[in-house]
Amino acid sequence: MRLSSLFVHNFKNIGELDLPQLSGVNIITGRNASGKTNTLQSIYFLSTLSTQFKTYQQAVRFGADFFSVKGGLESSGAQKSLEVRYGPGRDVKLKLNGNTVAKKSDYIGECRVVNFAFEDIDLVRGTPGERRRALNILISQVNRGYLKSLQKYTAVLAHKNKLLSEAFKKRPDAAVLEAFNEQLCESGAEVIKIRKEAAVFLSQAFDLAHKRISLGLESASLEYKCSFECVGDLKAAFAAKLKELLPAEIARGTTLIGPHKDDMLFKINGREAKYYASDGQQRTLVFSFKLAEYRYMQDAVKDDPVILLDDVFYELDADRKAAVLEFFRPMPQLFIVSLEADWVKKVFPDAASFRISGGALQDALQKE
Ligand SMILES: Nc1ncnc2c1ncn2[C@@H]1O[C@H](COP(=O)(O)OP(=O)(O)OP(=O)(O)O)[C@@H](O)[C@H]1O
Ligand SMILES: [Mg+2]
Repeated sequence: MRLSSLFVHNFKNIGELDLPQLSGVNIITGRNASGKTNTLQSIYFLSTLSTQFKTYQQAVRFGADFFSVKGGLESSGAQKSLEVRYGPGRDVKLKLNGNTVAKKSDYIGECRVVNFAFEDIDLVRGTPGERRRALNILISQVNRGYLKSLQKYTAVLAHKNKLLSEAFKKRPDAAVLEAFNEQLCESGAEVIKIRKEAAVFLSQAFDLAHKRISLGLESASLEYKCSFECVGDLKAAFAAKLKELLPAEIARGTTLIGPHKDDMLFKINGREAKYYASDGQQRTLVFSFKLAEYRYMQDAVKDDPVILLDDVFYELDADRKAAVLEFFRPMPQLFIVSLEADWVKKVFPDAASFRISGGALQDALQKE
């Protein structure tokens, strides 16, 4: 799939950015704080409705009262248009081919992206929450059933946790908790099952990519780590453990196990990379994971996602940089933000490049 056009209005520091004709490789240059990352984030948001910011309001340009992002898409020979718009006090408004879409789950997945930014090192170094989020965004883009189960699970979990958090002043109704647990098992088991399957695929693609980048010197794997013994009948195991933990959950005021507590471990040569890998090795692992994400999406929907690369070449030696770029070369569409634009242009001489300044396009889109 390819994004053929992009129009961004009042998104962060971008007042108006109109890119009516996008290429296969698009290099975005400009000085610090010009709006390069914001341009990529607008594409990421248009596609996933996920944000790197805490609230939608944070993305509204200072002094404006709404933002909107529109994109034209070529997917499997068909032309599509996507639009997301946000104004204060409301939820986002979505349009697909000009028609309003009420549910996010009917919109996410139309444009699929792999976003790769410098801070993605946090996938290896950071909290389990960051890894769960990455998995959720990845799988939701190719599996609407997953997204629906996840939304259901998250909603029931919030209700149950609210009840549990008030348990210190009012003993919660056991029948209500039981009903919540039943719903959590239903949707939660589905979420875990799909994540575990994804982790198996991802781990293989991850190791393959990693072997190529590290020139076969290291082996890498991903391991889905369940917050309870999740073997055999997942739903039954989840239900039994939730029942056993009920007194502890009432005492602690929160739900102690489930997909919201699970993790995915990054391993290198059998050891957890968070603790044992060097900076360069961690960067290499993240690259490998992003390539695995790409393969996962490609395999799931038989179509290539769009790749967003935001200044990700730091801390890689020349051999690893070259190996990484060889992976990206055959991909149908790349957006590359780089302060080393000249070096990227040498690698992709046919790329379109455009320069952002003060949140707007400085020069007309030019083929170089
Ligand atoms: N809601 C907003 N309204 C206006 N400006 C904003 C908003 N949110 C963020 N900005 C500003 O956008 C500017 C550009 O940010 P961006 O991250 O896109 O820069 P960049 O070109 O990627 O820079 P760098 O090369 O340093 O990574 C920042 O200075 C930031 O303060
Ligand atoms: Mg940036």
